[in-house]
Amino acid sequence: MNQVTTGSTPQQVWERLLRNEPLFILDVRNHDEFERWRVEGPRSVPMLNIPYFELLDLEGEEEDVTEAVKRGVQAQLMEQLPQDQPILAVCAEGNTSNYVAEGLRRLGFDAANLDGGMEAWGNFYYWRPIEETERFSLYQVVRPARGCVSHVLVSEHRAAVFDPARHIETYHELAAAVGAQIERVLDTHLHADHLSGGPALEQGDHIPYHLHPYDAIHPMDMLPARIAYRPLEAGQTFRVGAAGVEVLHFPGHTLGMVAFLIEGRYLLSGDSLFLESIARPDLGGNAEAWTPLLYESLMRMAELPDETQVLPAHFSDIRTGDENGVFRAALGELKRRNPGLLKLAEGEAAFCDYILANLPEFPEAYVEIKRTNAGLASADERKAQELEMGKNICAVGKTPEGASG
Ligand SMILES: [Fe+2]
Repeated sequence: MNQVTTGSTPQQVWERLLRNEPLFILDVRNHDEFERWRVEGPRSVPMLNIPYFELLDLEGEEEDVTEAVKRGVQAQLMEQLPQDQPILAVCAEGNTSNYVAEGLRRLGFDAANLDGGMEAWGNFYYWRPIEETERFSLYQVVRPARGCVSHVLVSEHRAAVFDPARHIETYHELAAAVGAQIERVLDTHLHADHLSGGPALEQGDHIPYHLHPYDAIHPMDMLPARIAYRPLEAGQTFRVGAAGVEVLHFPGHTLGMVAFLIEGRYLLSGDSLFLESIARPDLGGNAEAWTPLLYESLMRMAELPDETQVLPAHFSDIRTGDENGVFRAALGELKRRNPGLLKLAEGEAAFCDYILANLPEFPEAYVEIKRTNAGLASADERKAQELEMGKNICAVGKTPEGASG
């Protein structure tokens, strides 16, 4: 069995989960934080949640915390923790869990701490090639904790970044690794669930940022965005090196929602169409008016060739990635199994009833995230962490038919 080290980075944990190597997680955050989000991998991970304060019973101020943890584990957890596989201790920022891991090691367990805790887990990214040919390369960048997906198109040493998250160094590192210069940054829409890296790349690096003008108005208060952007329009085409990109307008999730069709075969579907579900049309506060738009957009999208490769901007369930952790599917396959697309066949009225009956909770932070992405509010690192806590909820919710949320 592979020993975990005393500290594991999110990258090491992710690789371990991807290889399906055994791992047991002891999460010592409060129950409500644990319920909100936790470490997830391509397969389910055995996990136990016991808040640190329940585990710890200091005998006096002088007592070594690790010894107190050791005593707490001996009193409460010996039966529940595995002796034969590594244990990863997890907390919010990786400090208290460090004592837990040390206490476990003193009891003979093979235990490591998740360095940086859930905060670091939430800010971890990996990237994988979708296609690498002479003519162009396309990469998918995944932020597993939040279910956010970006894409980078590279050709002739030029790169375009689609739907970047706020940690823009990720894209600079990718571009440097493949010997390319980022020349454009584009958002499929004004995101509500995460802070876009687009305006930051525009401001800091003077890379032109592109957005549909309908999404440059905040849908709640109708205030125009205060960011520098270049308007995208339906049918517009552009090149990145030798690779051609077409802009397709698919309103519904937002009014300015677009998809990018790369070389006629890769569809960056943004938040219109996901692998297991479809977009929620209520984040602008106009669900009844926007749901028929979503219907019309998905009907048009479904007319694209079945072999079109759909690359969404989010996933709801990390287990829907392939063996490399890539999120993609042929449109033809989605037409056969995606509950939202299957619902189109029942007509507009039935589709709208289905959507409006399956809207998940409306996260309050989403209004403020949109404001921040539009340049109407600002967020320092602390506020950004708070706004982005937990997983995205951009898809229509669970349904009796089994669509994922
Ligand atoms: Fe979205």
